[in-house]
Amino acid sequence: MSSDAIIETIARHITPATNKLQVGVLASGSGSNLQALIDFSDGDECLYEISCVISNTPGSRALDRAQQKGIGHRLVDHRNVAKPIFENRLLNFLQEYNVELVVLAGFMRVLSVSFLNRFHNRVINLHPSLLPEHRGLDAINKAMKAGDEHTGCTVHLVDAGLDTGPIIAQSSCPIFHHDDLEQLTKRIQQLEHALLPIVVNNIARASFDKHR
Ligand code: GRF
Repeated sequence: MSSDAIIETIARHITPATNKLQVGVLASGSGSNLQALIDFSDGDECLYEISCVISNTPGSRALDRAQQKGIGHRLVDHRNVAKPIFENRLLNFLQEYNVELVVLAGFMRVLSVSFLNRFHNRVINLHPSLLPEHRGLDAINKAMKAGDEHTGCTVHLVDAGLDTGPIIAQSSCPIFHHDDLEQLTKRIQQLEHALLPIVVNNIARASFDKHR
């Protein structure tokens, strides 16, 4: 399926209720990609709004970034709680904020089919490799260890597998022989910060266009 066709598929499942697509961001870590989404959303061409942010990690910087911007945010801790209860808490918060598209931006939990069914074809994920290469954890390291000459990042629709859903967009960069993990991670993050907001905005545009 082409990138446009996947975006059309996502858009078919969204009927925007306001003049901006309502996006919920799930992030476990530093939230630099959340920040890229926030920064883009300040621009005139932006067709989405971050309606809420959830992190499963106490002290996550993603929550601070949301707070600074006045975005609804919540810690939903996955520890010491059964997965269905954890996911119900996520769903309740997303529904409270009328989320129309869920963006996993460094969210380190695997979502169940029952969660995905509630947001059918409306969950996208960002992964730091050129999928289908190097699925799962430690993808940047895996690309270096494999001796790859190029790597990059992928935005894909989430399905029941681990990093297996249809690919929406990718950006690539070289791996230099003198790179260390930190240098390569930085290079990939720059790609991610540019790519993710564009993809989300393209999904927003497609979901509005279909109602014209
Ligand atoms: C990104 O590299 C993303 O590809 C991966 O987790 C990282 C999140 O970084 N899934 P940040 O929290 O957005 O800085």
